[in-house]
Amino acid sequence: MKKINVGLIGFGNVGSGVVKILRDKKAYLRDKIGIEINLSKICDKDITAKRNVKVDRALLTRNAEEIINDPKIDIIAELIGGIHPAKEYITAALKKGKSVVTANKALLAQEGRELFALAGDRNKNIYFEASVGAGIPIIKSLREGLVANKFYSIFGIVNGTSNFILSEMSENNRTFKDALGQAKLRGFAERDASLDIEGIDSAHKLALLTYLCFGRLVGLDEIFIEGISEISLADVNYAKELGFQIKLLAIAKKEGDELEVRVHPTLIPKNHLLSSVTGIFNAIYVSSDLAGNLLFYGPGAGQTCAASAVVADLVDLAKDIQSGLFRPTLNVVVDKSIRKLRKIDEIESRYYIRFMALDKPGMLAKISGVLAKFGISIASVTQKERHKAQVVPIVMIIHEAKEKNLRAALAEIDRLGAIGQKSIAIRMEEV
Ligand code: HSE
Repeated sequence: MKKINVGLIGFGNVGSGVVKILRDKKAYLRDKIGIEINLSKICDKDITAKRNVKVDRALLTRNAEEIINDPKIDIIAELIGGIHPAKEYITAALKKGKSVVTANKALLAQEGRELFALAGDRNKNIYFEASVGAGIPIIKSLREGLVANKFYSIFGIVNGTSNFILSEMSENNRTFKDALGQAKLRGFAERDASLDIEGIDSAHKLALLTYLCFGRLVGLDEIFIEGISEISLADVNYAKELGFQIKLLAIAKKEGDELEVRVHPTLIPKNHLLSSVTGIFNAIYVSSDLAGNLLFYGPGAGQTCAASAVVADLVDLAKDIQSGLFRPTLNVVVDKSIRKLRKIDEIESRYYIRFMALDKPGMLAKISGVLAKFGISIASVTQKERHKAQVVPIVMIIHEAKEKNLRAALAEIDRLGAIGQKSIAIRMEEV
């Protein structure tokens, strides 16, 4: 029986999960795939910390080069995260003729062009199933299960921490700050939680999904990114009263010959499947020409689920190596019908808007006058409280409007004397 040797770089949370699976399921995997996946070496800068899995000390090293330069190692799994030295390790491993598995969404979103090109030059592959949606097999599904499809759109809840926070606000009436505290306590936020709450982690994942569906590895600077840190409990509750949930959505959507790629809090109808995705769960809703609309759902973070995806990649690569197969394109091709990326100013959307205005005669007329001037049509309006001569919330839903028109209208409204604070606008999607 063929034996494939794996070197693991990163013995942290996900790395420990991989070690555990490769140990506990060694025989199960061997029976299933007819190949022995052998963990030959594990590298981490800390090899003394207690972990929830026991390993032979002889496997441990602090020196990644011992893995990269070992000619017997066929695959490296990079699970340290971050850009450096992960990029250097992957580059060196590819140059030494090894295939690579990584969960590093930030690295692939930022440096993927160079790394995928290098892998292609060396007839090696980089697999990255764990980088989006943890154990949800979304990458393999897009690449293989849906290989004959063209894609229209992706709507993803791909950051568990943000989804947990918004769910806590909506279900348990917690403030943003309280809910973030809970998320940190549970330990699934990134080391730097701003990556989660400011939408960056979602954007990294969206870049990879967009690459798979539309063949373009868009740069982070080409993705419009807005996080959830400005979302107030009041808006979550007003949206709910109106029949909507607020979700942090990662959106890639074809509109004619343009592609919109954006991450932002979004109102979606309460009865849409994505609205019932709560807590740390992730879901990716994909529209395609042949298979139609599909929803991929599951826990979006956690040791075992992410490790499950890493092991799936190891198995795929082990099979490829055994059969001498190199998959040069990963089934990714450029969608040539897309001419350009649409700028956020040019998108058209419905919006939820909250004004904080003095409760006095004529205020609503003034606001709607400015909206009318910019061609913006109101779908519904509610004044939430009644405090004579004080600032009160006025909540509106507006029909489809161009973002730049809405921004210009809000800037003018915010300059009206009787407006107490900056107006809030949240985009809506029918999905
Ligand atoms: N911090 C990420 C999340 C972990 O909350 O979804 C998985 O990438």
